[in-house]
Amino acid sequence: MSQELWTAVDSYVEGLLIGPDAALDAALATSVAAGLPEIAVTPSQGKLLFLLARMVGARRILEIGTLGGYSTIWLARALPADGGVVTLEADPKHFEVARKNIARAGLAKVVDQRLGLALETLAELVEEGAGPFDFVFIDADKENTAEYFGWAVHLSRPGTAILVDNVVREGELADAATTDPQVLAMRRFHDALAADIRVSATTIQTVGGKGYDGFTLAVVGG
Ligand code: SAH
Ligand code: DHB
Ligand code: MG
Repeated sequence: MSQELWTAVDSYVEGLLIGPDAALDAALATSVAAGLPEIAVTPSQGKLLFLLARMVGARRILEIGTLGGYSTIWLARALPADGGVVTLEADPKHFEVARKNIARAGLAKVVDQRLGLALETLAELVEEGAGPFDFVFIDADKENTAEYFGWAVHLSRPGTAILVDNVVREGELADAATTDPQVLAMRRFHDALAADIRVSATTIQTVGGKGYDGFTLAVVGG
């Protein structure tokens, strides 16, 4: 089992079930051209975000970690006409690349981009009375994942789905002796999840074009 094989299967699935898409392809190309890290979700994962948001009938979506707006576009496309995405980003350069990409996708009116440290913006959203959100995607700095999950639940209603990216880290999640701060953060997040009676959750390992990692999926009130 190899990265080459995982990439080949992703390409096969993309060719049949996703295909070329001007706005999404441009979002990735402009992100590379601007020197952003190539860490967006893969096309098949982007479509999973779209499908999950559709499955919960999401009208209001919260995303933590915009980067160039690739996942944001997938999420925004899942919304009904009166829906909206709020997406949080700390890096002004990423924010600006995403702004153009979201506009090119025709989604500028659907997406509310907030620039700033997510922990601060999340507190502001609560102050504003934002939410409840129907779907939350957590994909920013991994060290704060447990805190972001806490805010996500706070901004939720019973039935809200929360998806967290990059939780498995090539299997290091299961290594009790790990010293990697990002893996330690994901283990701390899982400890919190295990003790959290407000949610029902599981973690699914994934392989694909971006390697071996995984998602945690949780439902509030489960
Ligand atoms: N969801 C995107 C990828 C996000 S990458 C996609 O799949 O297309 C993670 C992003 O989180 C980066 O753009 C990074 O700048 C941002 N980030 C890191 N720390 C942050 C923080 N404290 N607050 C908000 N955003 C942060
Ligand atoms: C990486 C991947 C991600 O999906 C992310 O959000 C951050 C970092 C990575 O592969 O380093
Ligand atoms: Mg990610």
